[in-house]
Amino acid sequence: MNKAQRRPLIAGNWKMNLAEPVVLEAIETADKTNVDVVICVPSIALYQLDFIASKAKMSIGAQDVSAHRDGAYTGEVSGLMLAHTGADYCIVGHSERRNYHGETNLVIAEKVRRVLECSLSPILCVGETFEERERNIDFDIVSLQLRSALNAYNTKVFESIVVAYEPVWAIGTGKSASAEQAEEMCEFIRADIKAFAGLGASRRARILYGGSMDDKNAAELLAQPNIDGGLIGGASLDAAKFAEIIETANRG
Ligand code: 13P
Repeated sequence: MNKAQRRPLIAGNWKMNLAEPVVLEAIETADKTNVDVVICVPSIALYQLDFIASKAKMSIGAQDVSAHRDGAYTGEVSGLMLAHTGADYCIVGHSERRNYHGETNLVIAEKVRRVLECSLSPILCVGETFEERERNIDFDIVSLQLRSALNAYNTKVFESIVVAYEPVWAIGTGKSASAEQAEEMCEFIRADIKAFAGLGASRRARILYGGSMDDKNAAELLAQPNIDGGLIGGASLDAAKFAEIIETANRG
């Protein structure tokens, strides 16, 4: 299975923002393309937006999930609750969760398990800080994040698993990784998946790039052989920019 056999995936991450007008435009654009489109919204908006998107090709996703199945965990939202809203995807291990909420690789592995248990697709975020890149430990860091979350799964599960390479230094900075830097790490991620889960898994897994992707740099990033799509923050709050990125992914 080469790049052409994996469906491109354009995922928006609204973070703690609401931008409802983007949904209607994205639905219209997604309907005209062969791109999987998902917008990951604050949990409180899942029901409402899934209702709007339910008859469209576009999907809705969550941004986080509890590591626990159910019980006395005040403020948490379980995988089953997310599934009941109609969500299809859930971001797990975003660097903002790792940094501001102390999420460890161990916790993130549990969250991936919860997401898969509920038949949602995890979008597992991995990526190094600037300092880790400077110290030449970026590949080690990404490999550890990847293996600790995914080494329990076999080939078939990788049809559902999405990995997003998001270098922390490129997030929200307006300074995207170059296409070469992004491809180098995404190629490494695919090779690493092959090493711990086999060739079939590495061919099925969709690998996204995220970090200041916008309507201007999307074409070059999405043209890379190991980049199957994008995880987009800021530009997913702008209907025209997000639609342009979807169309770019559709042109291949
Ligand atoms: P930006 O596109 O705003 O850099 O955010 C990327 C991101 O964190 C997506 O999850």
